[in-house]
Formats: sequence, C-alpha cells, structure tokens
Amino acid sequence: MRIAIGSDHAGYDMKEQLKGFLAKRSIEVLDCGPDTGDKPPEYVAIAKHVAQQAAAGQVDGGILICGTGIGMSIAANKVPGARAGLCNELFSVKYAKSDVNINVLCMGSRIISQRMAEEITTLWLDIPFSGGRFIPRLQKISELEVEMRGC
Ligand code: RB5
Repeated sequence: MRIAIGSDHAGYDMKEQLKGFLAKRSIEVLDCGPDTGDKPPEYVAIAKHVAQQAAAGQVDGGILICGTGIGMSIAANKVPGARAGLCNELFSVKYAKSDVNINVLCMGSRIISQRMAEEITTLWLDIPFSGGRFIPRLQKISELEVEMRGC
C-alpha cells in the first residue's frame, strides 16, 4: 500500500509523526511536503499534489493535515476525482470510508492529538467501502463534477 501525505506549517509535526506510524504498518509513504514546519508553505499546491495522486490512483489514498483540516479539505476537493473528507473524530471517519469512500483524509493538528490522528487513520485504512447502494451516490458526485466544469 502507498499513501501520499502533505501538510501546512501547522500540520508539519503531525505529518512527520504519521509517516513513522504508517511505516510501522509497512505502508510506503509519498511525502508531498513541506520539508520544514518553520514557515507557511504554499499549502494549496501541496493539497493539489496529494489529491491528484489519490484521484489518479497513483497511490491508495492521501492524507492532508493543517491546523483545522478545513483549508486542506476545501483545496483537495477542487481536484476532479478527489473525495476529501475532514475527520477530526472517529464517527465521521467510519462513515466517510464506509459510505463515501473518501480517498483523501484531512485532519486538524490544532484540534486533535497525535494519538487521535493515528486512530482516525487506522479506521480509514481498515474499514472497507460498503459499495452497493453507495456506488450510485458517488456516481452522482462524479456527474456533478462534470456538470460544473467550466462554470
Ligand atoms: C494556519 O494558521 C491555519 O489557518 C491552517 O492550518 C488551517 O487551519 C486552515 O484551514
């Protein structure tokens, strides 16, 4: 399994620790930056990079972290094919995966602890997409994406 990961300055430390957590699960990590948490990076470009990798199936999923997870999730969802979900607790991530099959997980480093981020990540990785009646709903989202192109 291969996961792309990125953050802004606020999420940098959490990103670095999550890389170690993923490596312990023998997951290959593609770090899309930044290389330091010293100064605010161009986080929209990082969100774009991670979301593009996930949407294109170059990786099995993406993780984006900023202070709240809000900026990252908004930016990632502009990428066609990305289904980014902001999950700062366990209930959301359970359904974000089983019903919506999010391919980009966004979290807020100023809201949750490292341990909670690891628990959320574990659920996202381990819970399967339910498929079935949820597939046409995701299809509708894809159709909306096409409909809004150029608007
Ligand atoms: C950075 O101060 C903060 O605005 C950012 O990390 C994020 O929360 C934006 O959504």
